[in-house]
Amino acid sequence: MKALFTENRETGARTLDQQILELFREKKGGLVSGEELSGALQVSRTAVWKHIKSLKELGYRIEAVPSQGYRLVASPDLLIPAEIAAGLTSTRIGRHIICFKETDSTNEVAFKLAEEGAEEGTVVVAEAQRRGKGRLGRRWESPAGVNLYCSIVLRPPILPIKAAQLTFLSTVAVARAIAATSSLNAFIKWPNDLLINGRKVAGLLNEMSAETEKVNFVVLGIGVNINMHRDQFPTELRHPATSLFLEGGGPVSRLAFTRALLEALDELYETYLHHGYGPVREEWLARCNFLGRQVRISFQEKELGGTAEGIDADGALLVRLVDGKIERVLAGDVTII
Ligand code: BTN
Repeated sequence: MKALFTENRETGARTLDQQILELFREKKGGLVSGEELSGALQVSRTAVWKHIKSLKELGYRIEAVPSQGYRLVASPDLLIPAEIAAGLTSTRIGRHIICFKETDSTNEVAFKLAEEGAEEGTVVVAEAQRRGKGRLGRRWESPAGVNLYCSIVLRPPILPIKAAQLTFLSTVAVARAIAATSSLNAFIKWPNDLLINGRKVAGLLNEMSAETEKVNFVVLGIGVNINMHRDQFPTELRHPATSLFLEGGGPVSRLAFTRALLEALDELYETYLHHGYGPVREEWLARCNFLGRQVRISFQEKELGGTAEGIDADGALLVRLVDGKIERVLAGDVTII
């Protein structure tokens, strides 16, 4: 498992590439001499040159001015720890950020790291996923460089039965991040889809390790279609999908989005730990637009129809059937009729 970049904001451990970027950032577009870089990093001038070359390969535009040094001209919208961490105000979420150019699934990586003891707030991000996992065993389309695929490790002191509440929490966080970084408003569809103009823009897949009475950890898996173009969506999708780019008519900075998401998660999680599920549930209800509407729910071979009435304390959907009885639905796909 080789990470592209990793950073521990608590211990301050950074790769050499990240330290070079920090020096460039301090100079705000000014020149940094090779000597200054090799002195600060305690490596040879040849090593500095090699790292500059690798940063250029990542998309950084770095100008070399003969016998004066290097200047950072432009940075790509690349999801790497130093860039995500720059100006990030969260305290718990994002303490440790690990980024991959490509991985099978960020959820799988985060799960493995959590099993090995990764601290709460560890964030795993990938530019692309080979086998992105969706709900109900489906695949999550994960092309490179356009979207956000991230997984966050939490260790909440709650009973396993309450873990679904965290899915609601992360859905609200994504809705907040969309509002903060675009002019768009996403609506929530139970249990955890975010829709814009009736099309799915983000999905969440939370996975948990637990004992009977104790959650060991939860991995919040979040996929957001940010700058994906129409031709990057597969034609055979079950539900219509979209991206912030397609709905808003312009690109959205993935870095700004990622920071907004981590900050929203941080704030909501603090609220959840100190004040319980109530405030999260309130916001979830305020951001969903299908309560009171006729819905059809399918799960495996079963189907049921009725009026969506609300969600209960465990996150189950409450559906009023034609005979007036309330049915608690724990899983399935909802279609608004
Ligand atoms: C859904 O089907 O709506 C859930 C999609 C969840 C996708 C995200 S992308 C990051 C994380 N890693 C995965 O393999 N899946 C989740």
